[in-house]
Amino acid sequence: MSSRSRLEAIRDHLTPVSATPSIIVEDEAEVPPVDPAPQFPSNIRTVFPPLELEEHPIDDIRSLRVIVVGGGISGILSAILLPTKVPKINLVIYERESDIGGVWHTNIYPGVRCDVPAHAYQSTFEPQTTWSTAYAAGAEIKAYWKGIVEKHQLNKYIRLNSRVTKAEWSEEKGKWLVRVESADRVHEDNADFLITATGHFSEPRLPEYPGIKEYDGHLRHSSNWDPKFDPSGKRIAVIGNGASGLQVLPPLQKVAAHIDHYARNKTWVAAPIGGENFEHFVSERIEKARTSPEEYLKFRKELEIQLFSRFGSIWYAYIRRGGEKNKTARKTITKLMSERLGNRTDLLNAIVPDFAPNCRRLTPGPGYLEALTAENVDYVTCPIERFTRTGIQTTDEGIHREVDAVICSTGHDISFSTAFPIVAHGINLQTAWRPGGNPGFPDSYLSLAAPGFPNLLILLGPNSTGPAGTLCHSVENTITYCARVLRKASREGIRSMAPSVAATRDFRAYCESFFPRTVMSEYCSSWYNGGIKGGRIHGTWPGSASHLNLVRRNARWEDWDYTYLNPQGNRFAWLGNGWTQKDVAASTGEADIGVDLTPWLQAEAFNGGVDLREYHEHWWDP
Ligand SMILES: Cc1cc2nc3c(=O)[nH]c(=O)nc-3n(C[C@H](O)[C@H](O)[C@H](O)COP(=O)(O)OP(=O)(O)OC[C@H]3O[C@@H](n4cnc5c(N)ncnc54)[C@H](O)[C@@H]3O)c2cc1C
Ligand SMILES: NC(=O)c1ccc[n+]([C@@H]2O[C@H](COP(=O)([O-])OP(=O)(O)OC[C@H]3O[C@@H](n4cnc5c(N)ncnc54)[C@H](OP(=O)(O)O)[C@@H]3O)[C@@H](O)[C@H]2O)c1
Repeated sequence: MSSRSRLEAIRDHLTPVSATPSIIVEDEAEVPPVDPAPQFPSNIRTVFPPLELEEHPIDDIRSLRVIVVGGGISGILSAILLPTKVPKINLVIYERESDIGGVWHTNIYPGVRCDVPAHAYQSTFEPQTTWSTAYAAGAEIKAYWKGIVEKHQLNKYIRLNSRVTKAEWSEEKGKWLVRVESADRVHEDNADFLITATGHFSEPRLPEYPGIKEYDGHLRHSSNWDPKFDPSGKRIAVIGNGASGLQVLPPLQKVAAHIDHYARNKTWVAAPIGGENFEHFVSERIEKARTSPEEYLKFRKELEIQLFSRFGSIWYAYIRRGGEKNKTARKTITKLMSERLGNRTDLLNAIVPDFAPNCRRLTPGPGYLEALTAENVDYVTCPIERFTRTGIQTTDEGIHREVDAVICSTGHDISFSTAFPIVAHGINLQTAWRPGGNPGFPDSYLSLAAPGFPNLLILLGPNSTGPAGTLCHSVENTITYCARVLRKASREGIRSMAPSVAATRDFRAYCESFFPRTVMSEYCSSWYNGGIKGGRIHGTWPGSASHLNLVRRNARWEDWDYTYLNPQGNRFAWLGNGWTQKDVAASTGEADIGVDLTPWLQAEAFNGGVDLREYHEHWWDP
């Protein structure tokens, strides 16, 4: 018996009992008469037709095919966490680019770097202590994620140069049919679950001014920087004063002959995020932090506590005590900007906005204000009328500025909809969530899913990150939530699950009542509000980062609508035949197969060392 595999034993056990019982008669021994089938009282069954029990142990779970679209930070973290947290998962990640990294692969413009300290912009379980500087450059960030992919051997899940061009839910098959295009072929894959990790700054948007197509010079979006372009000695227009525009301008100013910087709206320029500059903080502590794990933990905690405690800065003072933070920020940042601009009060007046700091994401712009004061920079606030073959003309009496190159830092598609159709029950989420669609904005269930779209999960979707906190922690938490959904579907014979319309409407109502309390609802345009001044906020979570942690900790299964694989649609068919795989193994007498029927009996439990809060809570008990 011990030489047989555990699976063989289980398979034998599960072989359906044949209609006529076969009795093996040993030797000539007398065979006792077989009892006739017991007679149950006639009213024992009240449900007709009776449930046909499924012949499997309860924990003989289904393998799920899962497709993740996108190989940026969200896709990479999925490749680590999903196979770890979802038994039997069959995972593939499609990435349209030639390499992993998402925005850190595509954004190679001069000056690109993170605007939160790199020590807090990395996976929580893969700390790199050797960041060369507090705000690491894009290439260093990409190298970090490449290292993670290699270390965890994630290439087995990732298909590069593979663009998803359509996903359609087949109600008949209970699967997503996903069209994937690569250089040499188009193929259709299918999946039980589809997870989008396509990012919300991954589709650069060029402006649509008249004449732009006729412009003869070098024209690029900063997210699509041409590495062969040499800006030295050139006359360059930089359009846009968002985070990218502020980063790309200082290095260009240093080498270009002249820069025309087109900024159609005002913006706050804080010293790195929130007005704090963590450069000193990091440089003062990092050497010591590298000396021991305890010191490093202390450093990370001190750093991230500051990032998680910024939530107060989005509140109106009259609504909440502590909201004074925002008022103070206006004063502090104005003073800071004034100092950095020196005697250029003309620039200060042109840049400092009426709206409150944090109405849009605060932009650090190291070196930006200083660059604006340089002689070779013109700050142009007049709207652009049109492009010509040689330059740009503004609306002020047709002033025309000739340039050799135009760099558009004009943002991205911030609709939080994918660039490809996602269709279920005749509705295309790609258009439904965009202006003009129904409902015309990204109407998610807790940022994670959409009603009417079965087995669809979204990473870094609308309302997905707190206005404070750290991105990677938030993504890891979301993936963990997704893992719970996948485990539930796999374990409980769920064919499809989608959040209910009612739950989604209630979340929408919460957002609509929450955001007007905050400065984010003021009259500024940003990716928080889809670029619509004073518009609905869907860019951030309606609460703090810690608040979001609590929400994601436990799934509210009652908010979901389900269908089941069981032909009778019975939600408890997954209980199987009453056995667990361990019971089967134990009953076949296989003592040496490593089955622990009592995993809770641990030395720690006997000597008082067990943490009772998590005792009996593990889903992964062997
Ligand atoms: C220049 C820049 C700097 C930033 N700096 C910071 C920062 O300092 N701190 C911070 O918190 N956030 C920052 N962000 C925000 C950043 O978007 C997130 O921090 C994070 O990197 C997003 O990761 P992601 O994997 O979710 O998305 P992305 O990095 O956007 O990755 C999405 C991936 O999906 C792929 N994809 C999209 N559509 C398809 C398709 N149809 N088929 C196949 N693949 C597809 C894309 O090619 C891309 O690789 C920055 C963004 C930019 C653009
Ligand atoms: N680490 C970093 O420092 C960093 C760097 C880049 C990006 N990011 C992240 O990515 C987000 C997006 O940054 P982003 O700079 O790419 O985009 P953005 O913040 O949305 O800024 C886009 C800019 O382009 C302007 N613009 C758009 N269309 C225009 C048009 N037709 N004519 C003139 N100007 C136009 C906008 O002006 P209006 O304001 O008038 O609309 C805005 O100034 C940031 O908020 C941040 O989260 C971070």
